[in-house]
Amino acid sequence: MDSFLIEGGVPLRGEVIISGSKNAVLPIMAATLLTAERCVIRRVPALTDVGYMSKILRSLGAEVILEDGTLTVRAAQLSGFGDYDLIRKMRGSICILGPLLARLHEARVSLPGGCVIGTRPIDLHLKGLRGLGAEVDTEGGYIRVHAAKLTGQMVFMGGRTGPTVLGTANILMAATLAEGVTVIESAACEPEIIDLAHFLIAMGAKIVGAGSPTITVTGVPALHGADHEVITDRIEAGTFAAAAVATRGEVMIHGARHDHLVAVLDKLREAGGEIVYCASGIKVSARADFKPVDITTMPYSGFPTDMQAQMMALACLANGTSIITERIFESRFMHASELMRLGADISIEGASAIVKGGRPMSGAPVMASDLRASAALVIAGLAASGKTQVNRVYHLDRGYERMELKLQKLGARIQRVEEE
Ligand code: UD1
Repeated sequence: MDSFLIEGGVPLRGEVIISGSKNAVLPIMAATLLTAERCVIRRVPALTDVGYMSKILRSLGAEVILEDGTLTVRAAQLSGFGDYDLIRKMRGSICILGPLLARLHEARVSLPGGCVIGTRPIDLHLKGLRGLGAEVDTEGGYIRVHAAKLTGQMVFMGGRTGPTVLGTANILMAATLAEGVTVIESAACEPEIIDLAHFLIAMGAKIVGAGSPTITVTGVPALHGADHEVITDRIEAGTFAAAAVATRGEVMIHGARHDHLVAVLDKLREAGGEIVYCASGIKVSARADFKPVDITTMPYSGFPTDMQAQMMALACLANGTSIITERIFESRFMHASELMRLGADISIEGASAIVKGGRPMSGAPVMASDLRASAALVIAGLAASGKTQVNRVYHLDRGYERMELKLQKLGARIQRVEEE
């Protein structure tokens, strides 16, 4: 298992280019199953999750070619029976269920896995598919869905902590080929849902309202191939912005969409960041003094749970106490104990982490527990004095394209240590 060796204390300086969005490309890849025609997806990031999704599509019979960030998929022949172990490896794989059901009228997939950040139920996905007329059974680790025909309905996607993102994606995709009109209420408003809708519309789907809590889909008999460029990754952009502030550097982040990052940039400014909007992205630097910040994660356009860990790393450097409350995933504080190895003072009380910032941070060996926790440890390691070894960076490779190379270009002393 590879690790990163970081020698901290170097301000990041220079320019970085943000890759295509992981959370946008995975459902878009699933959407290619809705047609037998060729689909072309551009700005596809080189991530292990994209590799898994490509394998899943191939295991279902699709031809998949990935060349220089362009993915071509042709699902002329398709089976609805997915490979158990492949699908289990990745949470994002759940969104093949909607397209398979819509196109083949039946599908069987294994219950998905993903990051260890709390229980990740799929009851809302299944409720939505049932709402469109599907029969759903779970048995032996498999979910089996079946519907002679899908019929448009009013479907409510709100859960205990708000709307579900991949659940909304699943129902949106299934509804494109349903008979009649589907109204998705309490739909997720994330930019990745809008990007998926743009791809589906390019395929011939009739969708109004994506990006708002009410999405209306008028079913069509068939979809055709399409060519689409994926949006840039707002979480990767936010991570580099947090790293620029934490190291008191100055980084031009090309491709960062400030309109997708309003809550993150607001909190970064509050914490000590200086942010300038430019035509090609955002320029991030830091003020002399860092201030504590209180953050509560929420569905979009609130503060994203996927930036919570990185902001906690920054809060460790501020003079004063920050309270970080996690409202989306209940166990998403695994990074706290690892940040404490670097010298941070953090206590967890229920859904909140109390971060007493301003303690000296110095390097130590730490263990990455999930994707965004890994990013937080890298940020903390870049800001701390001395050497930090971040173990198990395979988590990071799931969602960041060549992160160490991008950081090296910004002057960071970071190396990947490859292990057998
Ligand atoms: C997506 C993102 C992930 C992000 C998350 C929240 C992808 C591949 N992943 O995950 O990076 O952290 O959105 O922004 O896009 N829930 C239920 N029942 C369900 C589904 C979800 O109760 O059927 C709950 C979850 O436990 C969680 C909340 O709803 O508390 C939000 O989860 P959800 O939006 O579904 O996350 P994902 O779409 O899996």
